[in-house]
Amino acid sequence: MDRTKILVTGGAGYIGSHAVVELYEAGFQPVIVDNFSNSQESALRGVEEILGVKVPMHRIDCNDVEALRAVFAEEGSLRGVIHFAASKAVGESLQKPLEYYQNNVGSLLALLEVMREFGVEALVFSSSCTVYGIPDQLPVTELTPTKKANSPYGATKQMCEDILRDVAAAPGNTLRTILLRYFNPIGAHISAKIGELPLGVPQNLIPYVTQTAAGIREQLTINGNTYDTPDGTNIRDYVHVVDLAKAHVVAVQRLLDKTGDTVETFNVGTGRGNSVLEVVQAFERATGQKLNYTIGPPRPGDVPAIYADVTKSVEVLGFQSTTSLEDSLASAWKWQLSLVE
Ligand code: NAD
Ligand code: WQD
Repeated sequence: MDRTKILVTGGAGYIGSHAVVELYEAGFQPVIVDNFSNSQESALRGVEEILGVKVPMHRIDCNDVEALRAVFAEEGSLRGVIHFAASKAVGESLQKPLEYYQNNVGSLLALLEVMREFGVEALVFSSSCTVYGIPDQLPVTELTPTKKANSPYGATKQMCEDILRDVAAAPGNTLRTILLRYFNPIGAHISAKIGELPLGVPQNLIPYVTQTAAGIREQLTINGNTYDTPDGTNIRDYVHVVDLAKAHVVAVQRLLDKTGDTVETFNVGTGRGNSVLEVVQAFERATGQKLNYTIGPPRPGDVPAIYADVTKSVEVLGFQSTTSLEDSLASAWKWQLSLVE
C-alpha cells in the first residue's frame, strides 16, 4: 500500500529528524526539505540507520517559492505539511531581527502560497510556549492570554499563529491547521543516532549540562536562585523529543481525518514543572555523573516559571507524553556520549 506523503520542512533539524522517524514508523512517507542553515546532512544518516531506508530529501530554502513549487510538483501527492523550518535562537533574534522575521514569517507565507496552489490542506505548525510570556497563572492552558513577546523570535511565533488563524477564518478557506505549542524539548532518540546538535556554546540548559558532564564545559552556571519558586531557580516543562515527535503524528492524522475545527491549538508538554536544580539532581541520578555547577545571576528576559496544562492535548488531541525526566536526561547523556565516540 502507498504511504501517505507528508512534507516535513526543517526535517533535518532536532525535532524534525525525530518526527521523520515517528512518521515513517507510523506508516507515513515523510519528505524532507531543509536548507541546512542549522543542521547537518549527517542527521539524515542517523534517520536512515534507524529506519533502514532513505527518506526523500530536497535541499531548498522554504522562502524560495519557485523551489517549493518544484518540490510539490515533483512529489505529486503530498497530503500534509509539518512546518518545523525556522530560526530558533532567542538571543540571536535580538541581534538579527530582520533575518528572523524574514525566515520565520517569510517561509510560512511562501509555504502557504504553494500549499494553496497545490491543494494541500493539512498543516501542523511548530509554535512555542514563548507565546505566553510571563504567565499570570500556572499551569498555562491554551486559553491563557498570550503576552507581548520579549524577543523577535517570540514575536515571529505569535505572528505566524495570527496569520494561520486569519487564513482559517477567511471565507472559502480549506486549510486545516494545528498549532502545537512546545514547552522545552529535551533528550534524543533511544538509539542515540539522532539528537540535538547545538553549534558553539549551547544556550539551552540540557546540552550545557551534558557538555559539562562530558568535560567540554568547565561548569554549568545556574541562572539565578532567587526567583519566587520553591528552590529559587526557574521552572520549566521538559518534554522528551520523541514524545513531542509522536504528537505530530497524532496531529497529522487528526487533520487528515478532518476531526475538529479548522484551526486548533494544543500545548505539548508533560504537565510537570521542574526547577533547574531538580534537573541537575535528576541528571545526576539518571546518569551517575556528578555535575559541576555554580549559581550565577539571573538571565535577562527569563520567565521565572512556566509549565503546561495538558488536559486539552490529552482529551481532545489524544496525546500524552510518557517519558520521565530521568529517562529523558539519560537519553540526552547517551547522545552526548555518542558524539565523542
Ligand atoms: P532546528 O534548528 O534544529 O531545526 C530547524 C531546521 O530548519 C534546521 O534543520 C534548519 O536547517 C532548517 N531551516 C531553517 N530555516 C529554513 C529555511 N528557510 N528553509 C529550509 N530549512 C530551514 O530547530 P528545532 O529545535 O528542531 O525546532 C524546530 C521548530 O520548533 C522551530 O520552528 C522552532 O522554532 C520550534 N520550537 C523549538 C523549540 C526548542 O526548544 N527546540 C521550542 C519551541 C518551538
Ligand atoms: C531553561 C532553564 C535557564 C542554561 C528556550 C526559548 C523558548 C523555547 C525553549 C523555542 C532556564 C536555565 C539555561 C544555562 C541555566 N524555544 N539555564 N543555565 O529559556 O526555557 O526556553 O527554549 O521556542 O522560546 O527561550 O530554555 O534551555 O535556555 O533554559 O540555568 O546554562 O535553564 O535560565 O531557567 P528556555 P533554556
